[in-house]
Amino acid sequence: MAVVSPLFLAYFLNNRAVEDVTSARTALMYARECEQHLGPFPKFRYEEAIEIPITQDGEVVIVTSENIGKNLKSCDKPAAFGAPCQLGNRVGRYQGLDANGSPNPAVIFVTFFRDGGLGVIGHNTESGATCFLSVKDEIDPRQGLPTPDDPTYNEAWQPPTVVGRDGCVKCHMADPFLHSPWIDQVRDPMNPEKTLVPLIADVDSPYFVIGKEFPAPPGRKPGAIHATIPKHLEGNKCVECHAPQCVPDFFNVKLDELQMSAPFHTMEVESREQWINDRNALREYCRSLDIQYFTQENEGD
Ligand code: HEC
Ligand code: HEC
Repeated sequence: MAVVSPLFLAYFLNNRAVEDVTSARTALMYARECEQHLGPFPKFRYEEAIEIPITQDGEVVIVTSENIGKNLKSCDKPAAFGAPCQLGNRVGRYQGLDANGSPNPAVIFVTFFRDGGLGVIGHNTESGATCFLSVKDEIDPRQGLPTPDDPTYNEAWQPPTVVGRDGCVKCHMADPFLHSPWIDQVRDPMNPEKTLVPLIADVDSPYFVIGKEFPAPPGRKPGAIHATIPKHLEGNKCVECHAPQCVPDFFNVKLDELQMSAPFHTMEVESREQWINDRNALREYCRSLDIQYFTQENEGD
């Protein structure tokens, strides 16, 4: 048995740590890479995002400076993830621009002001390129946030290693955007027929994540633009409209059991038995991916 001296080990670990720090990219370096795919970032503003309603027996609970951030004991449409009935969360949407400043309808940015923080997803619907951004924990995103052209960008936004470690793609898996009855209460003001969070996924829609710090979504080949549908799921109803989407049991809402109106799960046209069998087959596949939803540090969040 080889004996590794503790001194050598310490040296080796230290060296690795130094290497990690020097090769770690800043938030700004990541933003510039994203801009090559998505165009210039808009200025993300809290005031421009729309409040996601919390209702009890159909009545909207009014958000005040006293109750903002409070998680009520019950509500009609709980959030699928995180505090289920939290007051004052907001979602916003921006259309992208190309390098010379004209609108680029292929690019969408969605802001999610939640629990005092802010997560952003930028997505190019033509190429599939997607970026995940998050402000630092100590930053109040309601105060006004720097864009990549501001010198304080790195002070407000997390570096990509930190965002990557949060595992955004484990949940944002089939396509960049997740829908739930809670967030879909917010409609697009330009077109109230549509949800503000874009409903764009089909089984072939392009989706890949920018940044070497981010793993590929579960079940996808690294760098692949389209999802891999495993052979044994061919013919399964759950991969007819979109790529496999796994939902852990500890989510507040069992999204894959919802009987939502079209274009969600129009499973009424299927026999009950096939719906159950196909869902079970998909859950089996999800278990086989062995997705660890939380890293040790943020367990219990
Ligand atoms: C444990 C699962 C999970 C993880 C991890 C996760 N999200 Fe989400 N996210 C959700 C769910 C579910 C929603 C829909 C809102 C709801 O009902 O909770 C959502 C909504 C969003 C939205 C609003 C647009 C949309 O898709 O509905 C943004 C933006 C967002 N997440 C960003 C992020 C970022 C950035 C990360 C990583 C730092 C991340 N999320 C990690 C589950 C997750
Ligand atoms: C008739 C088309 C259709 C079928 C069949 C279908 N889905 Fe969906 N499903 C949708 C649409 C549309 C959405 C919202 C998609 C999006 O994210 O853009 C959705 C959303 C979901 C979500 C919520 C998270 C998300 O990505 O927004 C889950 C989980 C899900 N589907 C699982 C399943 C499972 C499991 C099955 C099989 C039992 C299934 N779906 C079959 C159309 C379908």
